[in-house]
Amino acid sequence: MKRLFIKTYGCQMNVYDSARMADLLAPLGFTATDTPDDADMVILNTCHIREKAAEKVYSELGKLKLLKQARAADGGRLIVAVAGCVAQAEGAEIIARQPAVDIVVGPQSYQRLPEMIARVSRGTGHALETDFPAQDKFDSLPAHTAHGAPTAFLTVQEGCDKFCTFCVVPYTRGAEFSRPVAQVIAEAKTLVDSGAREITLLGQNVNAYRGTGPDGKAWSLAKLVKALATIDHLQRLRYVTSHPRDMTDDLIAAHRDIPILMPYLHLPVQAGSDTILAAMNRGHTAADYLKLVERIRAARPDIALSGDFIVGFPGETDADFAATLDLICAVNYAGAYSFKYSARPGTPAAASARQVPEEVKDARLAELQGLLTAQQKAFNASCVGHTFPVLFEHPGRKAGQAVGRSPYLQSVHVEDALPLTGTIAQVRIEAVLSNSLKGVLVSQGTREKALAN
Ligand code: 5AD
Ligand code: SF4
Repeated sequence: MKRLFIKTYGCQMNVYDSARMADLLAPLGFTATDTPDDADMVILNTCHIREKAAEKVYSELGKLKLLKQARAADGGRLIVAVAGCVAQAEGAEIIARQPAVDIVVGPQSYQRLPEMIARVSRGTGHALETDFPAQDKFDSLPAHTAHGAPTAFLTVQEGCDKFCTFCVVPYTRGAEFSRPVAQVIAEAKTLVDSGAREITLLGQNVNAYRGTGPDGKAWSLAKLVKALATIDHLQRLRYVTSHPRDMTDDLIAAHRDIPILMPYLHLPVQAGSDTILAAMNRGHTAADYLKLVERIRAARPDIALSGDFIVGFPGETDADFAATLDLICAVNYAGAYSFKYSARPGTPAAASARQVPEEVKDARLAELQGLLTAQQKAFNASCVGHTFPVLFEHPGRKAGQAVGRSPYLQSVHVEDALPLTGTIAQVRIEAVLSNSLKGVLVSQGTREKALAN
């Protein structure tokens, strides 16, 4: 038996990919361990979206080098692999910078891992795979092993053709690709059979999904969601991340018509100034986005909206930044993620001569986050006194506590609960804590779809 430690950085797709890599390596005798100290192999599944995320990898590799040397001194062997978007973007440079790395494997080549491990195990050389193979990697990976958790991720789409000028994703994940409908439905059924009650469909541009259906035609995400909603015992569906330009009428209607599609939507806009949106190559204006939000809210009035924001994009003036604050005030978000612009090698914006000074970025980020945090607090406070279905995911830290999520993706906990994991129960919200809501049960948990939401 060999031990495998996978450390995952970045987005939910990396979380999904890490699980698939663990499945792939299980037949080779690898079982998961939660520390690198007793591992025979360590995989860092990396993120290249911002400089800070990428740099973390090198500091981790420095520690692994020492561990590898200590292991070798004891006559043992530690294989170190770098996977994910840093692997794709930097390739052989990683080995040049840190020779303790044995394997560099990009996100489209995970199916090659067993063969790469065999190669490095035989000798002392390195193995590198960063091609975008023509063959669908999902066809070559073993079926997803479901682990019985109440919530699960399922990648339906990868890659991006949008080429926002700040973003590395089109380069690290490649062109947009959608998995065929039948493959997605089969994987969803496996997950539900093993206990999943909520599935989050993943894609870098998930609402650009155009998978081939059993009828030979390209299915939209709305059509896929409709088909998945008929799976017995599946009680909740979500999808992330969406682009405003792909928010089609049928998908908006799905939020009105499909009860198990949760009233939560992550719809990044990045900025509120039309000049900056154009420089980012987003392909829409602030007014387009606000109109879209209006249509989504008309279809599903209680929908919780979240977004991503970048401050300090090259050329961003005080007036541009003020336009972002105005847009945030106009939308009123239930939550959001915000970042300082980080120049990424090879992207068009990185070459701009109009970079914004770091201290300006810091001040803008603080102001933006102040506003977004206030909106999030107001949204959470508005939930107090309301009752909604909570899907319980795991016990809390205190005895008798159970923790789950509201339809709006807020973390909710209740005290003195019976074992609730995997069930949905009605909970009345009594208080807002710093990062979660506290409630009391008003119904017992149920696994039945009819009472779910
Ligand atoms: N700098 C800062 N933030 C970025 N993002 C993507 N690229 C960059 C970058 N170069 C943010 C965007 C995106 C989220 C996943 O990360 O807001 O939506
Ligand atoms: Fe990056 Fe833009 Fe594609 Fe999102 S839509 S992955 S931000 S290029």
